[in-house]
Parts: sequence; C-alpha cells; structure tokens
Amino acid sequence: MKVVETIEELQQLINKKSGKTVGLVPTMGFLHEGHLSLVKHAKEQNDIVVMSIFVNPAQFGPGEDFESYPRDLEKDVRLAEEAGVNIVFIPSVKEMYPFEGGIRILPGPQANELCGASRPGHFDGVLKVVLKLFNIVNPDRSYFGMKDAQQLAIIETFVRDFNLRTKIVRVPIVREDDGLAKSSRNVNLTPDERAQAPIIHQALLKGAELHSIGLKPEQIEDEVASYITDGSTGEIDYVKLLSYPSLQPITSETDEVILAVAVKFSKTRLIDNIIM
Ligand code: PAJ
Repeated sequence: MKVVETIEELQQLINKKSGKTVGLVPTMGFLHEGHLSLVKHAKEQNDIVVMSIFVNPAQFGPGEDFESYPRDLEKDVRLAEEAGVNIVFIPSVKEMYPFEGGIRILPGPQANELCGASRPGHFDGVLKVVLKLFNIVNPDRSYFGMKDAQQLAIIETFVRDFNLRTKIVRVPIVREDDGLAKSSRNVNLTPDERAQAPIIHQALLKGAELHSIGLKPEQIEDEVASYITDGSTGEIDYVKLLSYPSLQPITSETDEVILAVAVKFSKTRLIDNIIM
C-alpha cells in the first residue's frame, strides 16, 4: 500500500494504473468497521482502491468539533493496509485548500432538512471536498455509507445534476453488537452515555414498527423522541420521518421513507437512521 500526501503524487500513481478501474472511499479517518465495509465493497468491484483521510474543515461550523474530532493516522494506515486499500491519500489542509474564499457549492432543498437544518453550511463543505476528490482521483465508483443517509442522498443528486462521471455506491450501516451505529465520534461518549446510546437504534426499530401499523409521521416522531429521552440523558436534535432520497414530507406517492435521528450527548452528537 502506498501512502501519499500530495495531489501530484497521488495522480502520478493513479496514472500509472491506466486501464484499471478505480474505487474511491472518502473518509475523515479514525477508521472503524463501517469505513472498512466501504473498502470491502470497493475491493470487490474495482482493480484499485483509493482511500482519502482528511478531516475537512469546510464542513465544520463555528463551535463544532473540528478540533476535538478524533484522529489516529498511524492506526488508520495499518487498518487501511490490512483491509487491502492500494493507495491512501492523506493531504494537509493547505494541500486541499491552498486559497482562501473561492467558489462555494450550494446544495438544494435536500440540505435544508435534518442535519442541514442544525448545521448550516455543512453540506456545502461536504460537496466541496467530495467534488475535489472526484476531480483529483477520477474514480469509476465512489463508496458512501447509509449511516450518513442525508449526505449520500445529496451526493447522489450532485452527481446526477452535474453529470459527474463517478458512480455512487450505497453501503449499509455497520453496527456494534448492541445496535449502536459505528462512528468515529462514539469515543467521545462518556461510559454512561455509551451504555445508553443503543437506545437510539432501539427507538428507530420501534418507530419502524409504528410506521408498519400505520401511525402518522408526527405520532411516530413523538414516540421515538420520548423513547430516547426517557431512556438516556441525550437531548434530541431532531427525529424526522421523510421520503428518501428526496427528503420531503411523506405523501401517498412516497416509496421509501427514512426515519432519521440526531441526539446530542455531553461532548458529541450522534446520528442514525432506518429506511423503510
Ligand atoms: P466519515 O464520517 O469518516 O465517514 C466516511 C464514510 O464512512 C461515509 O460515507 C460514512 O457514511 C461511512 N460510514 C461511517 N460510519 C459508518 C457505519 N457505521 N456504517 C457504514 N458506513 C459508515 O462522512 C464523512 O466522513 C465525510 O463527510 C466525507 C464524506 C469523507 C467528506 O469529508
């Protein structure tokens, strides 16, 4: 496995493999089995797997956890190698953003809901880094987890609306044995909060059950929110039932729905969802 820090080195390596298919796995590092599941899918479908590890300042708002976002590059490189990644790209902030200001990308209505409502500008920053990575790597396929279902939906729309070349592959959520969705941010839970956190997935399952017996969206959202606040010290940021991937209110035409939650604990905010 090659570890590179500059765009130039990365492109030289990729150019040498011309004719081979390339799969891209963008991450912010502090790798866990969720990320490694993206690698596994990428390996099955491409000749070369490129993983990027970059904590992207453009997608963190003021007062968010950019500084305290967990980092462990040494371990990441080891895990990436064991998982069979061919090239890891670990750029500096200066390498990715050598110029101040410049162009911003404005996502559409999908970004006004859920995390977009509580994190203004977050998805602008995600789209900026993702477009840069697509242009730098020119991947045939790019892998994203359903854990960040809104991010995935917005990126799919971005690729469709701007005729980007890469194909987007959706990868299912990987969970701990107790149901908690794996996340780099889980290490920022206190032991008590970690013990309470599986309530989020239990609440989603309960919500799915209520949806299947025909309860109204607002009733389901209320039930799920109370279930979480009754069983944990977490504070609800949102509990929302919407169509997926359009992220609009549910109508009789809606095929797939997402039940999505964000819960704030003392030092970190967790998100999770279920598609029905
Ligand atoms: P990060 O949170 O590191 O996640 C990288 C990728 O791993 C995302 O596609 C995410 O959905 C996926 N992932 C994380 N936890 C997962 C889990 N438990 N199961 C399945 N997939 C999981 O998402 C980002 O980084 C950034 O926003 C990024 C796309 C890299 C842009 O900066």
